[in-house]
Amino acid sequence: MTLTPSREDKFSFGLWTIGWRAQDQFGGATRAELDVVEAVHKLSELGAYGLTFHDDDLFPFGSSDAVRQGQIDRLKQALADTGMIIPMVTTNLFSHPVFKDGAFTSNDREVRRFSLRKALRNLDLAAEMGAKTFVMWGGREGAEYDNAKDVRAALERYREACNLLGQYVIDKGYDIRFAIEPKPNEPRGDILLPTLGHAMAFINTLDHPELVGLNPEVGHEQMAGLNFTAGIEQALEHGKLYHIDLNGQRGVKFDQDLVFGHGDIFNAFSLVNLLEFGGVNGGRAYDGPRHFDYKPSRTEDYNGVWASAAANMRTYLLLKERAAAFNADPEVKAALEASRVHQLRKPTLNPGEGYAQLLADRSSYEDFDADSYYNGKGFNFVHLNQLALEHLMGAR
Ligand code: GCO
Ligand code: MN
Ligand code: MN
Repeated sequence: MTLTPSREDKFSFGLWTIGWRAQDQFGGATRAELDVVEAVHKLSELGAYGLTFHDDDLFPFGSSDAVRQGQIDRLKQALADTGMIIPMVTTNLFSHPVFKDGAFTSNDREVRRFSLRKALRNLDLAAEMGAKTFVMWGGREGAEYDNAKDVRAALERYREACNLLGQYVIDKGYDIRFAIEPKPNEPRGDILLPTLGHAMAFINTLDHPELVGLNPEVGHEQMAGLNFTAGIEQALEHGKLYHIDLNGQRGVKFDQDLVFGHGDIFNAFSLVNLLEFGGVNGGRAYDGPRHFDYKPSRTEDYNGVWASAAANMRTYLLLKERAAAFNADPEVKAALEASRVHQLRKPTLNPGEGYAQLLADRSSYEDFDADSYYNGKGFNFVHLNQLALEHLMGAR
């Protein structure tokens, strides 16, 4: 297995990631602006296959049509020169002051109508650029104060927006699907659709749920203290993993957007094993872009930016290599057996069995020895995890 990224790996980066100028709440930018043409060429050299962007990353909010078109043309030329593609486009509905109380769910109806127009215009651009996924991250859709937002009305307005955008895509015949990106907080105190589970339940209430899936981000679930890989398993089970944002996060705190793997490395390991090989039981894996949504740390100059971009891809490929070795290790196979991991695939009831047969089965209750689980019948999970650690550390 090679550790050199290639187009087949489907690695993509947001223009706003490598182009982040590192301004934060406590200080200004530490890096100069990055031109989109340089971004495309540099990412292509490093082995990525795609660039993604918000409308406002490419041309500033309020740009004239001429400036907008000029930037689009420059990007198209860079793509033609490198063979890079645009797998995903997303809309900035959070930076400008007009979005301070949200976009699709602002209490101000005029802001909501403006937001819909901005998203529709950006959908046309997404189709023009050949993007297959349109991410919706509602960073400003939320509130700081419980009485400031009618949450049920906000969800209705969110639904109204999704239904409108979906109908537009259908009527225009665009080959585009939507991917909602959950996040629990930041920039709002509380954001609507804060986790994968909230978003999946919401999607099922839409006019065209088949058009809308998820764009889960590693750090966002972990900011809520949740297990990202477990959430991805459930998203896959529902057929809703339309896109993914890979990065690193160290615990329940502000959104760090670290390099992939620079947070919970165990979880990154199980995630790559799941995406690439279907996890411990094999089965359904993910075929879409491996999209990095990270922020090169504020301490870095542009050498550090490109080193961190390369680090995302190398870490992913290292984890893929480590996962393959883990899966092939006979001792791991034996440990999985001892842990009875594969037994979970077996239905609890026999074929054709219902509660009547179960009630008649004395071995399942009357003759079952529950006490044998005291001081015996361990599950061997710690040994299994130690084997994962040893593979991760290159000790096996
Ligand atoms: C974040 C988010 C954003 C979104 C992006 C797409 O870190 O809070 O990742 O970066 O992914 O803006 O709209
Ligand atoms: Mn983030
Ligand atoms: Mn993201």
